[in-house]
Amino acid sequence: MPRDVAWHGQTVHTSVWKAPVAGRRMVRRLNIDGDRQGDLAGHGGEQRAVLVYQLDSYRFWERELGRSGSTFGQFGENLTVDGLPDDEVCIGDRYRVGGAIFEVTQPRVTCYRVGIRMNEPRMPALLVSSGRPGFYMRVLQEGEVSAGDEIVKVADGPERMTVARVNALLYLPGHVRADLERALRIPALSPGWRGSFQAMLEHEGRIAGTPAGNPGLDPTSSAPPAWPGFRPLRIARIARESSSVASIELEPADGSPLVAALGGQFVVLRLRPTPGSPPVLRSYSLSGAPSAERYRVSVKREPHGVASTYLVDRARVGDRVEVSAPRGTFTLRDGEGPVVLLSAGVGATPVLAMLHVLAAEASRRDVWWLFGGRNRDDHPFREESRGLLRALLGGHSHVRYSRPRPEDVPGVDFDAPGRLTLAALEEVGVPRDADFYLCGPPAFLRDLTGGLAGWGISRGRIHTEVFGPGEAMTPGIAPAVARTPHPPLGSPGPGPLVSFARSGLAVPWNPSLGSLLELAEACDVPARWSCRTGVCHNCQSGLISGKVGYDPEPLDPPAAGSVLICCSRPAGDVIIDL
Ligand SMILES: Cc1cc2nc3c(=O)[nH]c(=O)nc-3n(C[C@H](O)[C@H](O)[C@H](O)COP(=O)(O)OP(=O)(O)OC[C@H]3O[C@@H](n4cnc5c(N)ncnc54)[C@H](O)[C@@H]3O)c2cc1C
Ligand code: FES
Repeated sequence: MPRDVAWHGQTVHTSVWKAPVAGRRMVRRLNIDGDRQGDLAGHGGEQRAVLVYQLDSYRFWERELGRSGSTFGQFGENLTVDGLPDDEVCIGDRYRVGGAIFEVTQPRVTCYRVGIRMNEPRMPALLVSSGRPGFYMRVLQEGEVSAGDEIVKVADGPERMTVARVNALLYLPGHVRADLERALRIPALSPGWRGSFQAMLEHEGRIAGTPAGNPGLDPTSSAPPAWPGFRPLRIARIARESSSVASIELEPADGSPLVAALGGQFVVLRLRPTPGSPPVLRSYSLSGAPSAERYRVSVKREPHGVASTYLVDRARVGDRVEVSAPRGTFTLRDGEGPVVLLSAGVGATPVLAMLHVLAAEASRRDVWWLFGGRNRDDHPFREESRGLLRALLGGHSHVRYSRPRPEDVPGVDFDAPGRLTLAALEEVGVPRDADFYLCGPPAFLRDLTGGLAGWGISRGRIHTEVFGPGEAMTPGIAPAVARTPHPPLGSPGPGPLVSFARSGLAVPWNPSLGSLLELAEACDVPARWSCRTGVCHNCQSGLISGKVGYDPEPLDPPAAGSVLICCSRPAGDVIIDL
C-alpha cells in the first residue's frame, strides 16, 4: 500500500516498499488484493497491473552493487519469480500462475522511486542499461495466486521479441526500423510503448543517437535550433497594433540570412533596457509569416514590465537586439482536418503566425480563428487576421469582447460580448474533429483545455503555448503551494551563471548541487522529471546557450539544443528555457 516517505525535503507518496505475503491472494484486473499503486500516472492500470522481477536479477545486483541481505519486493515488484529472465520472456507471452492468467505487456518504465527504495539513485538507469528492467503483465483471467505456485507458459507472444530487446529498442541508441515494425505487430504491446515506437517510425530521420534526439521519448521535439546562443539583429520597423501592443521587425545586422521559423515558434531576446545593467532575457513568439529575411515579434506593454516597456515605448529603428534561433514545439501539425486557432489578448501572436502559414499554403483545411479581447482598443491584428482568413477557402472567425465600449460596433468590430469560453465554442459550432491550438492567459488555457478534454478531444489534438514557466511534473510528490521562482536560500554559489529564461531568473551555480534539476528545484523553477538519471528524457529542456557536462551520461543523448537537466551541470554560463 502507498506510504508517505520523506525525501529531499519533500514527501513522496509511493508503493515501492513491498513485503512478502503469506497465503493465497486474489489477482484482479487492476492489481492484487492488498496492493495499490501510489501514482496512477506512472504505474498501474490494466497494462501495468502486475510488475514482475526475477530472483536471478536479485543475485546479479547483489554482485554488481556488492550488497547482501536483499528482501523480496525491493525492486517494487508484485511477483518475485524464479526463472522468466528478461532476455527470454517475450512481449505477448501468456502464463498461468495459480488460478490467474497473465499476458506480458511491456518492460518496466523506471522512475526515481526504485532509486529511493534501493538507496541507489542510479538504479533507474542501471535497470535499463543492464537489460534487466523486469516487466509488466495484464491480467487476462482473475484468480488466486500464492508463493510456491508453478508458472506455466500457456501461449507464445507473436514475433518473439524479448523484454530486454523491446527495452533497448526504446531507451538505447541504434534502433532498427525492422525491429520497430516487429514490435508494432505484437497486439499485446501496451498502447504507451506502441505510441513511442510509432513516433520513432514516423520520425525515422531523427532516430535516437542523432542530433535530433529520440522521438520515442520526446515525440514533440523539433529540428535542432538553427544557431547556438544569440545573433545580433537590428530593429527594422516598429508598428503599433493596439493601445498596448507593438510589432517589432528584426533583420540580420550582419546581412547573412536568417532561418525561416515554423509557424508558432518563439525566440529569446537578450536585451539591455537599462544601459549598464545586466541583460535581461525574454521570450517572444514570432507573429509574422515565416521568413528568412525578417522576424517579427509583437509585444504587449506590461505595467512596470522591464523588457516590454522598453520594447514598446523606447526601442527605436536601428537599435540592436540579440536574438536566439527560433525554437519551440507549439507548431502546426500536418493533416487535412479542421484547425482551430484559439487565443486571447497578446496570446494571438503564435497562432497568427500559424494563420500566415495556412494562408501562404492556400490551405484547403477548415480554419477557425477565435479571439477574445477586452474591446477594440485591445484587439491587435484585426485587419491582418481578417485579410488572411479571406485568403482561405474554409476560413471562419469569431471575436468576443469582454468589456465592449459603446463605440465598439457588434458585427463589425466583434461578434459577441463576453469571454471566449467552451460555451462560446459550442454556440459557434466549432468542429470537434479539429486540431486545437491555444494561447492566452493561464486561466483561459486552463478553462479551455479542461473543457475540450471534457468534449472527449484527445490530448494529442490540444496544443498550448504558455507565456511563462511551464507546468511542473513531479511524479508522486505530495502537492505543495506553488512559489514564484527565487534565488536559492543561503549564500550564492561561486559557479557560472545559470539563467532560467522563462522564469526571468539568473543565479550562480553551486557545485554542492548534484544537477541543474536540483538548482531549478532549489529556486522553485517548475521542471518536469521522472527517472532523474538520464533515461526517460522527461526533463529535456531547451538549452538556449552554453554547454553542460553530464554525469551520469544519459543512455541516449537529448536533441541538439536541448539538455537533460537531471544529470547535467553547467560548463560555463548557460541559459535554459525554463
Ligand atoms: C514562449 C513565450 C512566448 C511569449 N510570447 C510573447 C509575445 O508574443 N508577446 C508578449 O508580449 N509576451 C510574450 N511572452 C511574455 C514575455 O516573455 C515577457 O514575460 C513579457 O513581455 C513581460 O516581460 P517584462 O520584462 O516586460 O515584465 P517583467 O519585468 O518580467 O514583469 C513581469 C510581470 O510583473 C509585473 N510587474 C513588474 N514590476 C512590477 C511592479 N513593480 N509592480 C507591480 N507589477 C510589476 C509586470 O506587470 C509583468 O506583468 C512570451 C513568453 C514565453 C515564455
Ligand atoms: S528525469 Fe529522466 S532523463 Fe531526466
